Amino acid sequence: MPDASPVSTPYRVLPPNDPRQYDDLAGEWWRPHGAFAMLHWLARARAALVPAASTPDDLLVDLGCGAGLLAPHLAGKGYRHVGVDLTRSALDQAAAHGVTVVQADATAVPLADGCAAVVSAGELLEHVPDWRRAVAEACRLLRPGGLLVLDTLNDTLLARLVAVELGERLPTVPRGIHDPRLFVDARALVAECARHGVSLTVRGVRPQLGGTLAWLLRRMRGGADRPGRTEPRIVPTRSTAVLYQGWGRRGG
Ligand SMILES: C[S@@+](CC[C@H](N)C(=O)[O-])C[C@H]1O[C@@H](n2cnc3c(N)ncnc32)[C@H](O)[C@@H]1O
Repeated sequence: MPDASPVSTPYRVLPPNDPRQYDDLAGEWWRPHGAFAMLHWLARARAALVPAASTPDDLLVDLGCGAGLLAPHLAGKGYRHVGVDLTRSALDQAAAHGVTVVQADATAVPLADGCAAVVSAGELLEHVPDWRRAVAEACRLLRPGGLLVLDTLNDTLLARLVAVELGERLPTVPRGIHDPRLFVDARALVAECARHGVSLTVRGVRPQLGGTLAWLLRRMRGGADRPGRTEPRIVPTRSTAVLYQGWGRRGG
């Protein structure tokens, strides 16, 4: 008789943006050629926006930290890296990479006002049904003069085409991981940050085309999981219409 009990495999069908997808894909986080490969490239680019800590006590709060992919790129910058995420299986991996983890919703973070020198929200806001609340929390956590860094997907038709219709057919983005109804309008995000005292600058970014094609070819040929040298770079681009980074300091 076939076993009718529910199974957890990378192939179970879940609604778009269902957080249980991160449990099913838990083994992919740290594979440089895995389903989350592009998150590694983005983490490197995000970390480049973060200066060295000014004191040994400086806290960097990484909202939606996932498995802590930002950690290796912060090495040597001197922060205490605290990661906040909903997904236990991801947090366990983040902890194994030296992150102090807190299981919580980014819209209600159990950390004190003004505790952070830096708040990072990498590829998070486009997954949060109430992204405005997550932004309010990010700004609340920042101390005066603290730095917010983020990257997310814009609420445009082009972003839906590129990130979902095309991106989710490529091996760099898991299928169904996005719900494009949650994508974040860049102008609305800048306005929301301003409302909470953070003057945000945004710029469009994209993966380097040549490097990404070479990476895809290597992956199709079954290239080995080798980090570092051959990883495509995330580079600035004129348009914010698809993927964009933001950074800004809290006034006060
Ligand atoms: C696309 S991953 C990005 C992970 C990480 N920032 C990175 O770039 O590698 C999105 C992460 O956000 C988490 N997440 C989604 N909604 C969340 C929420 N409301 N509060 C906290 N974490 C959330 C997911 O569990 C997942 O780990």
